[in-house]
Amino acid sequence: MVDRIVDLVLTDPTGCYLDLTAGGGGHGEAIATRLVGRGRLIALDKDSHAVERVATRLARFGERVSVVQASFSRVAEIAEREQITQVTGILLDLGLSSDQLDTPERGFAFRDEGPLDMRFDLSQDVTAAQVINGYDRHRLIEILRDFGEVPRAMSLVDAFIAARPVTTTAHVVGIVRQSTPPRQQQKRLAQVFQALRIAVNDEMGELDRVLPAATDLLGIGGRLAVLAYHSLEDRRVKQFIKRGGWPEGTVDQPARLLALTKKPMVAEAVEVAHNPRARSAKLRVAERIA
Ligand SMILES: C[S@@+](CC[C@H](N)C(=O)[O-])C[C@H]1O[C@@H](n2cnc3c(N)ncnc32)[C@H](O)[C@@H]1O
Repeated sequence: MVDRIVDLVLTDPTGCYLDLTAGGGGHGEAIATRLVGRGRLIALDKDSHAVERVATRLARFGERVSVVQASFSRVAEIAEREQITQVTGILLDLGLSSDQLDTPERGFAFRDEGPLDMRFDLSQDVTAAQVINGYDRHRLIEILRDFGEVPRAMSLVDAFIAARPVTTTAHVVGIVRQSTPPRQQQKRLAQVFQALRIAVNDEMGELDRVLPAATDLLGIGGRLAVLAYHSLEDRRVKQFIKRGGWPEGTVDQPARLLALTKKPMVAEAVEVAHNPRARSAKLRVAERIA
């Protein structure tokens, strides 16, 4: 999917591009490789470990590439600091990276024992332990229901509250297993871990802020590509594009984004075989028209 995405986003090899979720640097590298002349890439990530790795991976491109640590909702400020007023393409590959998932100390994976952390940005205060142990019952139920679509969230939250302090990923896994029939346990664990991660990183708030801010920066003909991994994200992206690139509640504004993908693009079977996470990926691309 990397090449397909870059084919859609990169319309001018001398343009300026933003990879707002640099992660392991795969997409960033594919974009940087195609740039010529004044072509430029800003690769951004919230995670300082990702930023270090991407800076090393993309070092050979010299001044053509800048790697920045920041939340993507701050994209306007970062562009200003980099003296960029308009860009040709923007990529958002949402969620967590395989580096993050495969590092047990980050606490993202239910298959490994680790601390209840789940922060993309390690300088942030709120961790998954604080969410589970500090948030009230009502808020926890909302998190599991809204961000994980967890059925019977109430009884699971009561089990978490009875077990406080919940300290490790293995502790969460044990509580979920005890309250879930065996055949549903894997699915439930994935739902619970997703819900906690979304809450810890305010992923929905970040997405709602970045979409209009990114659209502001696109020049006419510029493209915004978003890869989403679950229906909550994809629905938000779809609605944003449907509203013509304006935040919810905006009235009487002429459309400034046009969908290039009427239906989201999905990964091909070969890619899913190499990277199981690609199974749930949905790509939407839109073009700035006004
Ligand atoms: C799916 S990975 C990106 C993988 C990347 N496209 C690649 O080719 O390796 C998502 C990345 O987005 C970062 N991220 C998530 N939310 C973010 C936010 N609000 N601001 C900046 N980075 C964020 C995560 O830290 C993670 O590294």
